[in-house]
Amino acid sequence: PDRYVVMGNPIAHSKSPHIHTLFAQQTQQIMTYEAHWVAERGLFQAIKHFQEEGGRGLNITLPFKTDAWQLAQQRSSRAENAGAVNTLWFDSQGQWVGDNTDGVGLLRDITVNYQRTLADKSLLILGAGGAVRGVLGILLAQQLGRCVIANRTVEKAQLLADLFKNYGTVEAMRYEDLTGQKFDLIINGTSASLQGELPPLPPHLFSANGWAYDMMYGALPTAFMQWALQQGAARALDGLGMLVEQAAESFYLWRGVRPQTEPVMIQLRQEMR
Ligand code: ATR
Repeated sequence: PDRYVVMGNPIAHSKSPHIHTLFAQQTQQIMTYEAHWVAERGLFQAIKHFQEEGGRGLNITLPFKTDAWQLAQQRSSRAENAGAVNTLWFDSQGQWVGDNTDGVGLLRDITVNYQRTLADKSLLILGAGGAVRGVLGILLAQQLGRCVIANRTVEKAQLLADLFKNYGTVEAMRYEDLTGQKFDLIINGTSASLQGELPPLPPHLFSANGWAYDMMYGALPTAFMQWALQQGAARALDGLGMLVEQAAESFYLWRGVRPQTEPVMIQLRQEMR
């Protein structure tokens, strides 16, 4: 069987092996996919060793996505924009090819799975770290009505706005600057949910039928999702769909076959209960 892995640190709780194994069964691909713990600064050696053993492709997760970007000898424009690589494979010359499927994963979850168009909508993105940079390019390509990035450290939001200025106008703001504004979609790309925390958001940010999307996920609604519903958001979604969709895009890049994501999402959701 062809071998695939996900490399990260920590890696034990990664859902990727389970997701890709379900994709492989569904599409009858003869392959294995395993989690691979990598020591700090150990990424180059780990990938090289995996390639020498005949490995076919890999996902890269925290904290190695920017290291993988640096190590890739060829990069897609999606990876270039993201400044991060989450999907790697080896071309016929053995060169390392890097892509990033996080942005398209988020976009498919919103627009295909939940059937929400982004055209003309006002979008607020919370956070200005790697997670937000990874998805900003593709979001700005959706003919948004407006795009605001708010971050605790406003300078980081401004840096992202400058970096993506050729893709569309991004307004960088502090959380307190948001008072009195309304948004059709608020995406939480901060890591605050990991600690059960919430950025210091003013109330009344959702427009009528406004939606909330947390790039994090868990068995229970995140603190951000709970806040959004209390604030009258019409829907509050978590990032499980994004996780499955980015995996499906990686699978497609490696295997040339697009798996169905819905049954996998349903199964993961049941297993998390
Ligand atoms: P990632 O790669 O997951 O995006 P990161 O680059 O460390 O991780 O970025 C984390 C993001 O979450 C940042 O936008 C951070 O805000 P600052 O840039 O001001 O540090 C944000 N963040 C983390 N914890 C937060 C909290 N408790 N409240 C608000 N924002 C938080």
